[in-house]
This record gives sequence, C-alpha cells and structure tokens, in this order.
Amino acid sequence: MQVIMLGVRGRRVFSALGRWENGVTAMAVVTAAPSSPCHISTSPPPCHFHTSARQSYKCELTSKRYAVQRGGFSQVCEADVKFFNDLLEPHRIVVGEAELAGHNTDWLGTVRGASSVLLKPKTTQEVSTILAYCSEHNLAVCPQGGNTGLVGGSVPVFDEVIVCTSLMNQVESVDTWSGVVTCQAGCVLEALDQHVAQFGLMIPLDLGAKGSCHIGGNVSTNAGGLRLLRYGNLHGSILGVEAVLASGEVMDCISAMKKDNTGYDLKHLFIGSEGTLGLVTKVAISCPPRPAAVNLAFLGLVTFEDVLNTYKAAKSQLGEILSSCEFIDRSSLECVETNLKLKAPIDEYPFYMLLETSGSNTSHDEEKLNNFLESTLGSGLVANGTVATEPSRMLSIWALRERIAEALIHEGYTYKYDISLPLPEFYKVVEDMRQHLGPSIIRCCGYGHIGDGNLHLNITSKEFEKEILNRIEPTVYEWTSRVNGSISAEHGVGFKKRNYIHYSKTAGAIKLMQQMKKLMDPKGILNPYKVLPDE
Ligand code: FAD
Ligand code: MLT
Ligand code: ZN
Repeated sequence: MQVIMLGVRGRRVFSALGRWENGVTAMAVVTAAPSSPCHISTSPPPCHFHTSARQSYKCELTSKRYAVQRGGFSQVCEADVKFFNDLLEPHRIVVGEAELAGHNTDWLGTVRGASSVLLKPKTTQEVSTILAYCSEHNLAVCPQGGNTGLVGGSVPVFDEVIVCTSLMNQVESVDTWSGVVTCQAGCVLEALDQHVAQFGLMIPLDLGAKGSCHIGGNVSTNAGGLRLLRYGNLHGSILGVEAVLASGEVMDCISAMKKDNTGYDLKHLFIGSEGTLGLVTKVAISCPPRPAAVNLAFLGLVTFEDVLNTYKAAKSQLGEILSSCEFIDRSSLECVETNLKLKAPIDEYPFYMLLETSGSNTSHDEEKLNNFLESTLGSGLVANGTVATEPSRMLSIWALRERIAEALIHEGYTYKYDISLPLPEFYKVVEDMRQHLGPSIIRCCGYGHIGDGNLHLNITSKEFEKEILNRIEPTVYEWTSRVNGSISAEHGVGFKKRNYIHYSKTAGAIKLMQQMKKLMDPKGILNPYKVLPDE
C-alpha cells in the first residue's frame, strides 16, 4: 500500500472488541489505490458469538415449521458440483450435512434450511460466473455474509446454493483526504473498523455482532446499530456499491464521490434489499474521523416518562457530542445478569439508559456530561447514575446492552421483534404484550435504540411453540401499524416478516417492489421466499 506517514500522536483507538482504549496510532494518507489490496481478516472470522452463543443447529427444518412452498427451481446435481469444482479450489466448496450445519441454521437457531453446497468466491468475477451459471441452470441462491441476521434471511429455506462472502475480505483503498474506504463485501465489520483506525477514521456503524457480520451483510440489511443517532443510516454513508445481478452482470455503482446526481442512484436498491436484487461484492464507505474523547453514562430511572424526558434533556444539553442513546428495561438487564452473570454498576431500577458522548476535546465533553448529570440527578429525573471514561469500564457497561440478544437465547426460544414506534408509545407495546401473553412465556422484555425510536421487543419460551407465535403475530404488527410505526426498524424483513410487510408498506409500494424484483431477477433465483410476500 502506498502510504505517506505524516506523524504519530497519542490518541484513543478501538480495542479488539470495538470499544475505546488509549493507544498510539499513525496518521497516514493513502495517495492512491494500493497495488496489492490489503487482506484484513482470515477465515474463519473472529466469531465471539458463533462459538459461545449460537443456538443448536438442530432446530426444525423451516420447510416443516412454516407453510412455505418450494419454488420450481432445479436441484443441485453432480454436473453442477463439477462446474463449481472446476471454478473454485476444493477448500472453497463446502458440502456435507455436518460441514454445512452452521450455514444452514440462523444465529438464533430458529430457522433451518437444507442446502447441499456452499461456495466461497474470492472475486467479483467468480461471483458473476457462479450467478450466471445458477441463472442458466435455474438454481436458487442464498447470499450469506456472517450469518448474524435475525429475520431468517441469511440461510436457505430449502436447498438454495449458499454463496458466502467470507473470502472476499480485501480492503482496496483508504483515501484519508475524503475519508472513504473501498473494500470487498466480506470484510468483517470489526476488522474493517480496526483497519481504518490506523488512519484516524472509524466505520460509522457499530453493532453487537461486529465480530462476525460482514460489511456486505450490513449494507444488504441496511443495519442500524448503536450509533445511528449520530452518524445516520447506511443510505447516507455508503457512497458506492458494486453488485452482481442474478444474470451474472456486474453492476458497477462504486463511485466514491460524495456528490453524484447523474440520474437514478441505483446503489440504494442494493442497500437493504437483503440479497433479493443482487449480490453485493464491493462497497465504498464514507468514514468520519475517530473521536478522541469518549464517555459513557449508565443511568437508572424510575418511570418511562423519566426516560423520555432524560432523552430530551440529553439532546438539548449534550447536542453535537451525543453519539448513542440506548434503553434497557429491568427484565432485559435481569436476563443478562442471570444468564451471563454480568453485573450492573448501579442498583435495580425499572429502566436504564446508556448515554455515550464522543468528541474531540476530553475536558469539554466531560464538563458537559457532568453538568448534564448534575442537573438531571439534582432534579430527580435520573434516580442514579455512573460515568465511565476508562476503556475497560466502558466495555463492561456496553456488554450489559450488547449482550442482551445472547442472554435471551439461553432461555430457549426467542420471538424477536424489531419495531419503530413514536416515542410516547415506545414502551406501551411491551406492557400490552406482557399482559396479553400472561404466564405462557418466560419473559417479555424491551430494550433498544431509543434515540432512533427503535424498540427491540423480545419474548422467550423454553422451546418454540406455535400457539405462542400465533398469539404474538399478527397482534404485534397490528399494534405497530396502528401507531404508524414500522414492523422492521433495522433487522429487515427476511423470511419471517415477508407476509407481514403490508403492515408497513402500501399495496402500491409492494407491487412496485415486485416489479423491480421481476426486472432485476426475472427467474427469482436470488434469495427466494425472502422480503416479498408469497404471491
Ligand atoms: P447475514 O446474516 O449473512 O445476511 C443478512 C441478509 O443479507 C440476508 O438476507 C443475506 O442473504 C443478505 N446478504 C448477506 N451478504 C450479502 C451480500 N454480500 N450481498 C447481498 N446480500 C447479502 N442489526 C442491526 O441492524 N443493528 C444491531 O444493533 C444489531 N445487533 C445485532 C447483535 C447481535 C448479537 C446479532 C446476532 C445480530 C445483530 N444485528 C443487528 C443483526 C445482524 O447482525 C445485521 O443484520 C447484520 O447487518 C447482518 O450481517 P451479516 O454479514 O451477518 O449478514
Ligand atoms: C441489538 O440492538 O441488540 C440488536 O439489534 C439485536 C437484538 O435486537 O436483539
Ligand atoms: Zn438493534
């Protein structure tokens, strides 16, 4: 890589877990696209979740659990495997039930497909050849990144060929003048973030699955995460996308320019379309400077009204330095304490909030945060609170929030809902569903990105029960639609929500989506049974 070293100075960098710690890093400018791209992660990627938390691979087959009809696709035959073998080295083709188990089952252990082959291309050209072949031979394809998706979109429903991006992990260039990184789709989010850290930049996206999810998966789901409040969603920070269409045609929309009004902005079609319109192979991301000062407050609150008023006060008093505003109810925190043995830094309260500030001036930010806490604690709005500035303390506080999803799956089966709601209604749905479900369940809890109006409503039971599912759905979607919320805030529609999309989209919008799908994927081979409702 052609790099000019400008100097070295003390600053804070992300730790291996994606949180802040003191360190020294080089400020550098990449003057041109590197001749040999930088390889930033190895296979398998660092998977803290897959190894420790991933549910059993032996859940019921999706085709048995759900009423879903296999499309008229061909089945993979010997000639197909021979073609793939001629294209890729043996270690880049995975066959065999045991070897494929982790790729056929989702992270939650709630849906399971029966693919017989997984392919690991390294280049856009290989993806193009694979898709052209699958299109010609009428083989359905399931694109897969880190397989951390939570709506059943990342695994096959029947026997789709899995095309996994795990070996597409090259960083092509980092332009430190504009702050734009261009990389392949299979870069693991956390590794990519560590890579740009050496240039004083950060990836404007952070989520609990950062150690496993791929940037291509993030773009394909339009992932939100913990700092959307500050950096906006990926439709804003993704400047370019390269994707391969179902036919094998490479769609190069990889412009790294911040401004480009030359007609329809096609890259947006691939952001959030969950692998149904194209397989994302490369992205250009606009990266903000890495903040030098980060503080984290963990607060205890007595009423939900106090939570809302605290958020309002944080917006007005912390303003431009507020980088995250997260919400946890008592039941969610209790789940993390009980199932993962983590310890909260303050006593028990009905509600908790995490407020993070990020800026360029430590004393300025600390003063602002301290003033904010003095006033909210003084007025009784906040009942108790603690501030962390040390990396290890911040890490352990963040774990209380980030590991709730993991803690929940310890209880058996998680019914997971990710909804956008107007703030006054934000917590009512948790209370209503708790009452509606009564003692038939283990837990009904709420947490989420309150600064973005995004609630994660989660219900657990010892094992999957159809009757419980039928009591939750469509009630929860009707509830959400009644208050004009969205039935999918950030996780996407995937397999599980496709037949509920009408709660958040008009018939006209769904029809146009179906027409776009027909145009871009006439045979419907790309991620069938996902996003669009059954016809
Ligand atoms: P996968 O799970 O492999 O795939 C997701 C979808 O994208 C599938 O439909 C798949 O077919 C498609 N896809 C994957 N790669 C490509 C590609 N290259 N081209 C086309 N389609 C592709 N999500 C949030 O939004 N915010 C969070 O805060 C958040 N936190 C999480 C915390 C935990 C512990 C876990 C397990 C998940 C969390 N998620 C969160 C959900 C998940 O991590 C995101 O949806 C993530 O973006 C998925 O990335 P992935 O690489 O794992 O994609
Ligand atoms: C989160 O914010 O923790 C994730 O979106 C995962 C979840 O909803 O459980
Ligand atoms: Zn989330």
